[in-house]
Amino acid sequence: MNIQVSESSTTTLSTGLPAEPASGRGRSHGTSGTEPFDRWFRYPAGFASDYVSMLLEHLALPTGSMVVDPFAGSAVTGTAARRAGLSFFGIEAHPLIAELANLKLKKPPGSPAAFLRAASIVVDAAKKSRATGSLINAEVDLTRRCFTPDVLADLCSIREAILDRKAGVWGKYAKWALLATLRDVASARVGWPYQRPGQARQPKYADAYSRFLQRANLISEDIGLVDWKSSIDVSAFVTQGDARRKRAWKRLDSGGAHGCVASPPYLNNFDYADATRLELYFWGEVSSWAEMVTNVRSDMVTATTQQSSVGAASDASQRLSRFAEIGSEVDELVEALKIQRTQRGRGKEYDRVVPDYFDAISEVLENLAAAMHPGSPVVWLIGDSAPYGVYIDTPAIIGRIAEQVGFTVERDEALRRRGQRWATNKTRHDVQLSERLILFRRG
Ligand SMILES: C[S@@+](CC[C@H](N)C(=O)[O-])C[C@H]1O[C@@H](n2cnc3c(N)ncnc32)[C@H](O)[C@@H]1O
Repeated sequence: MNIQVSESSTTTLSTGLPAEPASGRGRSHGTSGTEPFDRWFRYPAGFASDYVSMLLEHLALPTGSMVVDPFAGSAVTGTAARRAGLSFFGIEAHPLIAELANLKLKKPPGSPAAFLRAASIVVDAAKKSRATGSLINAEVDLTRRCFTPDVLADLCSIREAILDRKAGVWGKYAKWALLATLRDVASARVGWPYQRPGQARQPKYADAYSRFLQRANLISEDIGLVDWKSSIDVSAFVTQGDARRKRAWKRLDSGGAHGCVASPPYLNNFDYADATRLELYFWGEVSSWAEMVTNVRSDMVTATTQQSSVGAASDASQRLSRFAEIGSEVDELVEALKIQRTQRGRGKEYDRVVPDYFDAISEVLENLAAAMHPGSPVVWLIGDSAPYGVYIDTPAIIGRIAEQVGFTVERDEALRRRGQRWATNKTRHDVQLSERLILFRRG
């Protein structure tokens, strides 16, 4: 099936689907910084909350229907589904972010006031046993360079009080109030997605204790907004795992999902593990790059050159040959990328990423097809890309794979242009890139 790609108007796409809201997306992430629950922590590449709500509204799923997101991230789709009275099941590979996603969705262990009391007990305990020099010196280089010694001492003291169970049943909530505080009080450039400890900046907030309490206050306000008793008919859950693997889907009955709103990783070398390095190291989830690879990245779809390998690429090419024409198209892209790489001496191995990426997406789509109820809609937001100027029409290729595994593609719409941030970079290609919305339906 040949799908026409059309440009979006300002409020509605030509096909009736909502275009992006005025709040925008991309670097600003639209309303996800202000929307209850989504404002707990800003995750790079997260959806704009209001846009997901608009898409769900457009899909008009009956109350109680099950929405899935195999690339759940911080569960912006999950919180929007809950607001709309829909159930939600998500899969997220990043362990720390899967924990956040679940925390946003699950019933809290008590009242908002109880959490605020726990947060102030944490601060009192932290102030009493303020971190000593030896504790701070034990921090990894990245953490030590991102904060002034005083602020780091405060942050470490809060962390130790939480680890010492001073927050009781609210430990995870206190942890996220603290992790969200880190970038607020950093005195180095730690804006998303890159952490640049060598570049100083004026912190947005000077006092770690009071910023932590403000963050705790936001969380407490938000958990007070949901009527948890009446929401028991609606289930919402994110599992930490790999959406390529069937076992990650086991909590969902076959055919049990009625809609999907998701955004897979783009083929743009963006590394979700690295983007959260500061939080991962500070909390001690990882202590070395090797642990980052084994503990955080291992379940992720290959979308960066750091994840690629010759063996995995060749196995993936073999598997993709089951989709005849798509397999040959990917092989042609690989050849074009190989030429570009070899011309550059020590060029990046995009040719090894591409087959692995599409093979991984095909596995996720196969699992998604098994999970979706016949006739139910799937909306994916995905950008195209042009490594070394070789254009890869990722959304169109994904659409064709979807058609091979049991879906019918109904729409492919351009939402906005991408890549303007690098428009002045003379060494970069000048291929015009866009973010697209593809709508497909389970046959
Ligand atoms: C574009 S982001 C989606 C963000 C999400 N829409 C949100 O609002 O936060 C893609 C997500 O897919 C996750 N991911 C990558 N490979 C995965 C896999 N094999 N299984 C599940 N999640 C995966 C990444 O960790 C990342 O969080």
